[in-house]
Amino acid sequence: MQDLVNECRTERMGADAWKWSSGQMTAVTALIGLQSRGMQMNVVIDGDAASFWEQGKDLYYTLVGQLDMACSNCHEDNYGVMIRVDHLSQGQINGFPTYRLKNAKLNSIHGRFKGCMKNIRATPFAEGGDEFKALELYPASRTEGLSVETPSVRN
Ligand code: HEC
Repeated sequence: MQDLVNECRTERMGADAWKWSSGQMTAVTALIGLQSRGMQMNVVIDGDAASFWEQGKDLYYTLVGQLDMACSNCHEDNYGVMIRVDHLSQGQINGFPTYRLKNAKLNSIHGRFKGCMKNIRATPFAEGGDEFKALELYPASRTEGLSVETPSVRN
């Protein structure tokens, strides 16, 4: 969605592109997401999207960082468990951008991925980069049955 917003800005508005996780971009994507609030998530993963989905799935199960963990170790193998003060969720992305009490602002999905990678002492991928875009598609494809909650509120 961020790429579409920037395409409109640069090609049709003669405006500068926004950084992927900037405050303006996150605010506008939250406003767009809000229009779909309550609708069923419906994510296409075939056709052109298939190879990105495969790449995202690989990343989701790849062990990284000094703690040698994968996304799946927490959000698939241990959801429901307490990790310090946090109740581990399935790491769903239907509420993004999400307002976090922790930093009192709207947070992008890649910002969240980055935080999780830092927590396992891995070098995070770039926000707006190819890896996170592919990674995003995998959990998105697992939102079957959930509705759009954007913007949600989290710790
Ligand atoms: C050491 C365990 C751990 C690992 C590994 C981990 N996370 Fe998380 N993640 C958390 C915790 C704790 C939270 C905050 C509580 C929650 O929502 O589960 C969180 C939150 C999230 C959320 C927000 C969910 C929501 O509803 O707000 C997403 C999305 C997410 N993680 C995705 C990922 C992805 C993708 C990876 C792999 C790059 C990953 N996480 C790796 C522990 C982990």
